Amino acid sequence: MRRKIVVGNWKMNKTVAESTELATAVIAALGDGCSGCEAGIAPTYPALDAVGRALDGSGIALVAQNCHYEDDGAYTGEVSTGMLKAVGCTYVIIGHSERRQYFGETDETVNLRIKKVLASGMKVILCVGETLAEREEGVTGTVVSRQVTGGLKGVADITDLVIAYEPVWAIGTGKTASSDQAQEVHRLIRDTVKGMYGTEVSEAVRIQYGGSVKASNAEELFAMPDIDGGLIGGASLNAADFAAIVKAGC
Ligand code: 13P
Repeated sequence: MRRKIVVGNWKMNKTVAESTELATAVIAALGDGCSGCEAGIAPTYPALDAVGRALDGSGIALVAQNCHYEDDGAYTGEVSTGMLKAVGCTYVIIGHSERRQYFGETDETVNLRIKKVLASGMKVILCVGETLAEREEGVTGTVVSRQVTGGLKGVADITDLVIAYEPVWAIGTGKTASSDQAQEVHRLIRDTVKGMYGTEVSEAVRIQYGGSVKASNAEELFAMPDIDGGLIGGASLNAADFAAIVKAGC
């Protein structure tokens, strides 16, 4: 039985003070929480330290939105895995479509980052997903499997890796993939993983859905056999909504 995982990706939102306040409100809204669902929060880099302190003892994981693949040096504007680990991060989101779309992230750089995060002892959330044009062209399967195989090239062990399927056309648009549409791609991702790592690993790997997940649709999505939780953008900026989504995974 795969334990569900729900992570709030706050993207480029909230000051440090606002982030701390929101993290505290999430803890309060979760109350006793639920052991059935792992929860995480990914604030901006400047807020990681403060949010990490606010989350201390709550059981909610501190997640980074990205990292660089070098240890240190002349890479202006970048943050290393060592720095993220030192501040208490346990997961790093890699290859989000916004990174691919606006910041030139490719399967090759995604692959380098994944190897670095896993070598550092943190866990990875690998994001994959097709654009609207790709879906309309009928190449969703090709694109998503290429992102999975490219991202995982030469990665021997994916015990500490979660995959997030986020159709680009569903992100921030209010257009959620239907539970059947999402399930179909989640199955395809699991089959791709099976081809690379075998049945046991493919049945164990968790695959989150992301793209306009709300408290009102989370339960239906999470009930699908291959959907193991969610990566939540907009709705994670409201403590009650995010807590309700986590509870839908319990
Ligand atoms: P929304 O939930 O705002 O559609 O964002 C999804 C996402 O990109 C999470 O990483």
